[in-house]
Amino acid sequence: MHGCKTLLATSLLALCASGAAVVPKTTSPSAAAYCEIFSRGLSPLLNPTAVINNEPSGNQVVVLALDGTGKASFSKAVSAGGVGLHANSTGADSTFSQAAVHVANNNLFAVNPGSNTVAMFSISPKDPTNISMVGVPAPSLGEFPISVAAHPTQPLACVLNGGAQNGVACYVVHPVYGLLPIASSVRSFGVQETTPPSGPAGSFAQILFSEDGQHLFVSLKGMPPAVNGTVFAMAVNRQGVLAQNLTQNMGGPVPFSMTNIPGRQALFLTEATGGVETFDFSHGFSGVNAVVTKLNNTVATCWSSFSQHTGNFYISDAATGIVSEISLSKTLKPTTVKQYPLGGTTATLDNAIATIGGKDFLMVLQANASSVSVLSLDGPGNAHLQQTLDLSNSGVTLGINMIGLAAFSA
Ligand SMILES: *[C@@H]1O[C@H](CO)[C@@H](O)[C@H](O)[C@H]1NC(C)=O
Ligand SMILES: *[C@@H]1O[C@H](CO)[C@@H](O)[C@H](O)[C@H]1NC(C)=O
Ligand SMILES: *[C@@H]1O[C@H](CO)[C@@H](O)[C@H](O)[C@H]1NC(C)=O
Ligand SMILES: *[C@@H]1O[C@H](CO)[C@@H](O)[C@H](O)[C@H]1NC(C)=O
Ligand SMILES: *[C@@H]1O[C@H](CO)[C@@H](O)[C@H](O)[C@H]1NC(C)=O
Ligand SMILES: *[C@@H]1O[C@H](CO)[C@@H](O)[C@H](O)[C@H]1NC(C)=O
Repeated sequence: MHGCKTLLATSLLALCASGAAVVPKTTSPSAAAYCEIFSRGLSPLLNPTAVINNEPSGNQVVVLALDGTGKASFSKAVSAGGVGLHANSTGADSTFSQAAVHVANNNLFAVNPGSNTVAMFSISPKDPTNISMVGVPAPSLGEFPISVAAHPTQPLACVLNGGAQNGVACYVVHPVYGLLPIASSVRSFGVQETTPPSGPAGSFAQILFSEDGQHLFVSLKGMPPAVNGTVFAMAVNRQGVLAQNLTQNMGGPVPFSMTNIPGRQALFLTEATGGVETFDFSHGFSGVNAVVTKLNNTVATCWSSFSQHTGNFYISDAATGIVSEISLSKTLKPTTVKQYPLGGTTATLDNAIATIGGKDFLMVLQANASSVSVLSLDGPGNAHLQQTLDLSNSGVTLGINMIGLAAFSA
């Protein structure tokens, strides 16, 4: 797939070069970021009118353009081809998950939890705000899809269903037909849950491939103090088929987002009761215990990303509105490098890294403020808030139904 991307980029470059003399210079965005808004506001359990007043337009992917300086602007909202549903909470974070939208190569994936489908879009590398749905949204083969993972090298994507029918389903990523289910790569977890999920305690959180693509991980939150969370691992063969055996690794109280630790067989997770967890899989993928570290000034740390540029992790806290920058030692010991308060009631949820001109920018969704903030990462411990983009005048209904954040860098 990297080969295809390079080929496409090269041919586009050739096109641009050959047309340079006659085509007027346009200012295409350097990058784009995407989040999703669900059509159904509250859980039907809490607000029955939400179902009746289900917006006919359905879920939408909100597309933001990023220019060469990392400045973000609202571009458009595009139908995700399905409807949403809010997990059983009244506030932000409608899926209790990370990666409700996910970008891999030139594709964007978005879940439709109320339709039990997953949509796939192609991203135009020349103008990443131009996204086009590929095929039709695929059935998630379970209930309440919340998170999508893409294989690092193979045309393969997997979705995590977090409802009453929970489990994993994998698909071939086809450039014309979209997501094609792989019958032999559907796995059920059989965890006691409802549709929509009850939580956040006890609900599923994320699906992720290991850096080498040989394992698939799923995080399940615990119900403290009685039960801790779990990180499941499944081997994936060269054809993209999942192993039958699902191994379990003991998490801390509420393991949430998962981020690969580059160059290591290891995972970095947020611990949603405040802090982080690490799993070292260098001696196997079964029976590994999380190392849990409480961090100062954290209450509900649920989302994370890693910057190649600074070498650090960034975690956002829905309760405090604080983004913490975390470094890991060689022994995977976490240290808070710096904290960036973005507003205590803004509900800082998903975050994502956009790389523009060799520099990283951290985008942070603030669902209770209908905003996305952009921090320029000028070095380790040296992030600067450069913009808070207020989307409330964008003409689309935003608010607590916003979830997910993913960036594409041309
Ligand atoms: C957007 O992308 C699609 C699919 O790649 C392409 O057919 C279309 O021409 C593009 N639209 C614009 C305005 O560039
Ligand atoms: C959602 O479900 C959880 C777990 O059963 C429960 O603790 C919580 O009170 C519920 N939340 C709401 C808003 O009903
Ligand atoms: C699955 O089982 C096989 C055979 O028992 C074992 O070799 C392999 O390590 C297991 N997979 C994982 C992910 O632990
Ligand atoms: C959950 O994890 C924490 C931190 O690792 C540990 O102290 C606690 O004993 C665990 N609780 C259970 C019920 O396993
Ligand atoms: C928390 O703050 C205390 C006091 O400032 C400091 O000694 C400690 O190292 C901090 N803990 C972490 C994990 O950063
Ligand atoms: C959400 O924002 C509103 C308006 O600023 C504020 O009154 C409310 O307390 C916020 N909610 C949370 C959970 O922070």
